Amino acid sequence: MNGKAIGVFDSGVGGLTVAGEIIKQLPNENIIYFGDTARFPYGSRSTDELKGFVFEIVEFLQEKGVKFIVIACNSASAAALEVTQKHFSVPMIGVVEPGARAAVQATRNRRIGVIGTPATISSSAYVEAVHTYDSQAEVYQQICLDLADYVERGETRGEKVKKVIKNYLAPIIAAQADTLILGCTHYPLLSATIKEVTGSGIRLISSAEEAAKEVKEILESKGYLREGNSPPVYQFISSGDEDKFLKLGSQFLGHPIDKVERVSLDRKG
Ligand code: DGL
Repeated sequence: MNGKAIGVFDSGVGGLTVAGEIIKQLPNENIIYFGDTARFPYGSRSTDELKGFVFEIVEFLQEKGVKFIVIACNSASAAALEVTQKHFSVPMIGVVEPGARAAVQATRNRRIGVIGTPATISSSAYVEAVHTYDSQAEVYQQICLDLADYVERGETRGEKVKKVIKNYLAPIIAAQADTLILGCTHYPLLSATIKEVTGSGIRLISSAEEAAKEVKEILESKGYLREGNSPPVYQFISSGDEDKFLKLGSQFLGHPIDKVERVSLDRKG
């Protein structure tokens, strides 16, 4: 069990922000990463569609023999974590609950902002998760329709994206939230620009970092950590264009990626 890989997946390269945090916190672990780039983006998909995609990818990763799975996509976690956990025996987590928990721990005035895709925000998964820890906390949600696209295009700094962020965050800043959950895999890459907009008064919570902490805690408590000193193996798989994955992937992961395999899953989106 211990030598088996951790399976991590997302709609594309965004979940590599989560894989990068796992590598930082668990540098001895093998990782298999699947990016469903052929069906990107997930943020505008329906709940039923997302459940279908998630089942298919979890089956695929289970066949690869992973010991643990991280649904490293907010939209997919919001739509399908619970039903997938019930259906499959392999232990897994999503990114919503760890982010919500960290936000409740961080806030001083119990006002929490959440930004994400239409799928994540309309599910209210973050609101529910925050309320399991603090039923009285105020949660201010905001759909950021095109923010992930800016990151996909590499536009993470500059006046144009800053103005877009300013517009999206205006209601959350007006509500005096002191904590902001970055509820999309792409947003940690916008942290510097978001901080320019919010100033130091709002604490940013990266679901990626918090999810990696939770993976570490669970693997340690189950005695599932990999032993030995051989270098870890990282395998990157994409359902779509390998070149795009390679180009963007290293930026999201924070490490160079030199090889990507292409695997088509049956169901087409
Ligand atoms: N990975 C998605 C998420 O975290 C963002 C990109 C998409 O829409 O697929 O919600």
